[in-house]
Amino acid sequence: MCGIVGILGQGPVAGSLVDALKRLEYRGYDSAGIATLENGKLARRRAEGKLRNLEALLREQPLNGSVGIGHTRWATHGRPTENNAHPHATDKLAVVHNGIIENFRELRDELIAKGHEFVTQTDTEAVAHLVTEAINHGLSPEQAVAISLPRLKGAFALALLFAGEDNLLIGARRGAPLAVGYGEGGEMYLGSDALALAAFTDTITYLEDGDWVILRRGSAEFRNEANEPVFRAKLKTQASAFLVDKGNYRHFMAKEIHEQPEVVARTLAHYIDFSTGTVRLPFELPFDAKKLTGLTVTACGTAYYAGLVAKYWFERFARLRVEIDVASEFRYREAPLPDEGLMIVVSQSGETADSLASLRYAKAHGQKIVGVVNVPTSTIARESDVAAPTLAGPEIGVASTKAFTCQLTVLAALAVALGRARGVLDAASEQRLVNELMVVPGLLAEALKLETGIEVLAHQLGKATDVLYLGRGTSYPLALEGALKLKEISYIHAEGYAAGELKHGPIALIDEQLPVIVIAPTDPVLEKTVSNLQEVSARGGRI
Ligand code: M6R
Repeated sequence: MCGIVGILGQGPVAGSLVDALKRLEYRGYDSAGIATLENGKLARRRAEGKLRNLEALLREQPLNGSVGIGHTRWATHGRPTENNAHPHATDKLAVVHNGIIENFRELRDELIAKGHEFVTQTDTEAVAHLVTEAINHGLSPEQAVAISLPRLKGAFALALLFAGEDNLLIGARRGAPLAVGYGEGGEMYLGSDALALAAFTDTITYLEDGDWVILRRGSAEFRNEANEPVFRAKLKTQASAFLVDKGNYRHFMAKEIHEQPEVVARTLAHYIDFSTGTVRLPFELPFDAKKLTGLTVTACGTAYYAGLVAKYWFERFARLRVEIDVASEFRYREAPLPDEGLMIVVSQSGETADSLASLRYAKAHGQKIVGVVNVPTSTIARESDVAAPTLAGPEIGVASTKAFTCQLTVLAALAVALGRARGVLDAASEQRLVNELMVVPGLLAEALKLETGIEVLAHQLGKATDVLYLGRGTSYPLALEGALKLKEISYIHAEGYAAGELKHGPIALIDEQLPVIVIAPTDPVLEKTVSNLQEVSARGGRI
């Protein structure tokens, strides 16, 4: 995911732009750049790789200017080279962009025919030339943006800086988040999330989908998709409270893994009355649980796997039929949805475009929506009938860790609450399940003590080229999540499989070279899993 920042400052902004980009590093990126206005002229510095490369370049070739934009890029269209790094510029403007402009080829061909010269492989460059074309026809920057935005197809957030306009930044949002920040002495900011702005301000406004905004020092003028002036409220964010450093950890992911006992305990305390041993949801359910006919769960990546674990719980404890799909499939399937149905959308950021589109589809088809989200001000939180918060705190590491366990915590509480409300669980069963949940933070702390042993194992596994993860029941989604984490963090190919499916194909892969990680807790399917282990060891697999 890319990151955007923009500053209309009182003094030089280059250093602050880079600092803000550093707080977006957790989103992952492979190049970075900034642009400022120096005496009314656009000036850019861009570099491949880490922000330290951009900082080194800026030491050699500093940038002045009190207005600027910056970007961390995760390459989608065009390789992660300096030339493809944002900001992209013409003689009139510079632009940074998150998301994808789906019709960029068509726009590029049209603009090339009009004499524009394209120099990158990116989709973003089409935006720079499209707005420039309008300015070349005598329109002001604001008018040029207003007529260009409706021509863009896709999901995006944009920040634009204009030559000769020292008191102007324009931002636009469709599908990808963008926030405005209000600083001291009229300083104004743009950021792709509240964390990017956390060092500058705790007062922000999120653009609604389709909005765009004209920023001048001391003012923000919001327009909607129809180009009508609109009011958007200011919010106080908690993000600055989380201007976290890595503490004694080597990286944020390690820190966040170790935060799990604390954040899971905090999340549990939000959903459970420890004195009575019952679930106490911090909101009213927006439906009659007894009349619910079906539950649809949708999410992406790790959040999807949390939902897949919860499917077992909702079916077992609440006797609800659960349909679950990854949001990137669900949103295009045109699935029929039940009358009196509920959708649960799970998302750490609350901004994932496919999850949001699925939410909107379900809402339009009469479903009540519960959003299990970590960012309470996010779009998914705001568009849900009820936002069920995970209290994981900001997840800076790109790999979801503590957010996943907090998602499971909230989903478990919801499953028990629905089971009780539907009359499936009696008071004693609820208490038994709540007691089991209450020991989770302690068990997490115990598990973390295994770190040294796990590190030894990791050094052995690090030599593998492929790894297989197996599990049954709720351990099956955990196997999928384990495989995702290994791929994402170690770049080692890994597959997660339902252990019972082993004999239906993947068993052919097993030999002395293939490490097989089996998730086999003491549960009703343990014996079945042990039989699968025997199949693996019979073929010499390393378990
Ligand atoms: O913010 P979201 O939870 O909606 O993000 C969904 C996925 O992109 C995310 O869970 C991703 O799979 C993890 N960061 C992987 O570790």
